[in-house]
Amino acid sequence: MKSNRERKMPTRDNGTSLAERLITQALADAAATFVDSIKLSSVSERVRRGRRVVLKRRNAYSEQLADLGNLYFRISNIPIRFWSKVEDWRRWEADCFQMLNGDRFRVLASGAKTVCVDKLPGKTLWEHLTRGTLTRQMLEATGRELRRAHQLWSDEFGGGWSHGDATMSNVLYDEKTGRARMIDFEIIHDKSVPATSRHADDLLVFLLDVVAIAPSRQWLPFALCFLNAYGDTEVIAELENQLAVPSGLAWIWWGVRTSFAKPAKVKRRLAKLQDIIVNLGHYRAVAARARKSRRPSITCQEMSPGMPRPISRARATRARAKAPSPEMPSRLPTTR
Ligand SMILES: Nc1ncnc2c1ncn2[C@@H]1O[C@H](COP(=O)(O)OP(=O)(O)OP(=O)(O)O)[C@@H](O)[C@H]1O
Ligand SMILES: [Mg+2]
Repeated sequence: MKSNRERKMPTRDNGTSLAERLITQALADAAATFVDSIKLSSVSERVRRGRRVVLKRRNAYSEQLADLGNLYFRISNIPIRFWSKVEDWRRWEADCFQMLNGDRFRVLASGAKTVCVDKLPGKTLWEHLTRGTLTRQMLEATGRELRRAHQLWSDEFGGGWSHGDATMSNVLYDEKTGRARMIDFEIIHDKSVPATSRHADDLLVFLLDVVAIAPSRQWLPFALCFLNAYGDTEVIAELENQLAVPSGLAWIWWGVRTSFAKPAKVKRRLAKLQDIIVNLGHYRAVAARARKSRRPSITCQEMSPGMPRPISRARATRARAKAPSPEMPSRLPTTR
């Protein structure tokens, strides 16, 4: 969850009355302050036996705050939950860090309400996004890392693992290795949600930072190279169903997810992204059909079972030349 200092409050000029604007502004601020107050834990850095480590310690009343947050998520139909019990959070936070980053980094012993892990190299993608130093390499590395993580088995879900709070402030990029790594496992997806939907939600949460904050010429190429690197078409197809702006109470959390950026801008950009994903779906369907029609059928008609006659191969090559490549278009006219 991004801290308050990074949140920029937009101004609007589409004819809404001053009173309306002030009320919306006040509501958004109240929501921001309320959400910010839900700081379940505090994070600090230390040096332990020569190792730079990060200590994440649960604050007082964190269980009550978590329960309050979970009540809000439930009544707003938002499929995530804070870990309420400290020991449950500790186990999940340590296990996920170990599972994802244990190849080179360690979870260290720590006190009852604390998790202590190695400090990972690099900056968060949120820092790069807000400083204008975000690159395609970082987004592609994150797409690959998220895909890798989603393919890991999780006993907790009885299926593929998912993050639940895959915002850019929870992804660190190491320039030296070109590797992206995830942190912050305070939130978990509702376990009744199928893996494909949980995975699509992780893509959505990450993309909301890009859509909300990235400049007009960059947000779409950034979003596409992330999705391209992620590459799981089934999850991307599911994402298509999750791109609508929520109504009702869920807008508060949506505000947090989009740093209270102009809703109209976010809506326009998500509509554009949806368009492309839909078209990509069509691309793939056409390409699959083209491929299917090319496949030498082992169930050929009575004429001559087995490998197709040479002629058809030529036809197949011509068809291949014509068929659109199922790749995610990487260069597209950017829109505001
Ligand atoms: N293992 C780590 N290595 C390097 N930096 C870390 C690590 N863990 C946390 N951080 C830094 O501390 C920040 C906050 O940590 P974390 O996200 O786990 O806590 P949080 O309570 O969710 O905070 P926030 O609300 O800012 O997300 C991260 O955005 C990151 O900049
Ligand atoms: Mg975080």
